Amino acid sequence: MSILIFGSSGQLAQSLRDTKPADKRPTFIDRDTCDLSDPDQVTTILEKKKPELIINVAGYTAVDKAEEEPQQAQLVNEEAVRCMAKYAHARGAQFIHLSTDFVFDGTKQTPYLPGDATGSLGEYGQSKLAGEFAALKEAPESTMIIRTAWVYSEHGSNFVKTMLRLMRERDELGVVDDQRGAPTYARGLAETIWQIADHDLFTAGIYHWTDAGNITWCEFAKAIQKEALEAGRLSKSIPINPITTEDYPTPAARPAYSVLDNNKLAKLVGIEPTPWRQNLKLMLSRL
Ligand SMILES: NC(=O)c1ccc[n+]([C@@H]2O[C@H](COP(=O)([O-])OP(=O)(O)OC[C@H]3O[C@@H](n4cnc5c(N)ncnc54)[C@H](OP(=O)(O)O)[C@@H]3O)[C@@H](O)[C@H]2O)c1
Repeated sequence: MSILIFGSSGQLAQSLRDTKPADKRPTFIDRDTCDLSDPDQVTTILEKKKPELIINVAGYTAVDKAEEEPQQAQLVNEEAVRCMAKYAHARGAQFIHLSTDFVFDGTKQTPYLPGDATGSLGEYGQSKLAGEFAALKEAPESTMIIRTAWVYSEHGSNFVKTMLRLMRERDELGVVDDQRGAPTYARGLAETIWQIADHDLFTAGIYHWTDAGNITWCEFAKAIQKEALEAGRLSKSIPINPITTEDYPTPAARPAYSVLDNNKLAKLVGIEPTPWRQNLKLMLSRL
């Protein structure tokens, strides 16, 4: 099966490269090869490469910057996705597309199911939700949407790496303690995606995948410090103080609660998500 992966340098793209089964020869498409803000380029590369499976892990992911440039976010997260879905429908290809917990408004108190009502709070979430709608409209039979959340890895920049840097630089930290979610190690998510591709498990629909358990950002920061100290990645401990979302204003609003229910995808792939703390330890050991 010929596989084309949109994304090359992102966290999930690099994790897909790290975990690729030996017999798979995917083509990774970077920004220089195809600028996703230009729909014509997306269609052209697809017609040239003619993949049987598209995996889209590229996206406009700058949550706060999207408030300033919503059109750019919309082109990459909606229009490019529409082109991929149109191709999948026309050519009978499979399309695995990554989406986000930010399609929800965070008012629920129990884990979000894939079929729950959506309602994004900012431009990024809105553009990702529009991408989901576009894909499901153009190719409902060929699209598998996987929503994830709080992604980190040894690649790129992310919360874990930022916290480690700040814990080295500062004497004290304040971290938001009223937003709850599930951290997700990109490597574990990549393995789940390969499980789908490698075992012919593709099944159209909307799915969720994060690591197991849920915490606040402040609890996550404390865990990062504890595990990094034990792993010898930090040499000193600093106080980490809980603060509120109001204390740390950002251009884009974020859901207060965005825990996702993973059961549908866990059942499909026959793998239970790994507890977040176990994956955090694994990531620190690989950093
Ligand atoms: N990170 C999270 O916490 C999180 C949470 C929920 C869902 N997700 C979703 O998971 C997926 C993967 O996330 P990630 O963390 O791996 O993202 P990431 O590290 O930010 O990588 C995004 C990738 O998209 C590429 N890209 C952005 N604009 C582009 C354009 N105009 N043309 C071509 N390529 C472009 C980037 O290329 P450059 O390197 O050239 O910029 C980068 O390789 C995304 O769909 C994201 O929405 C992520």
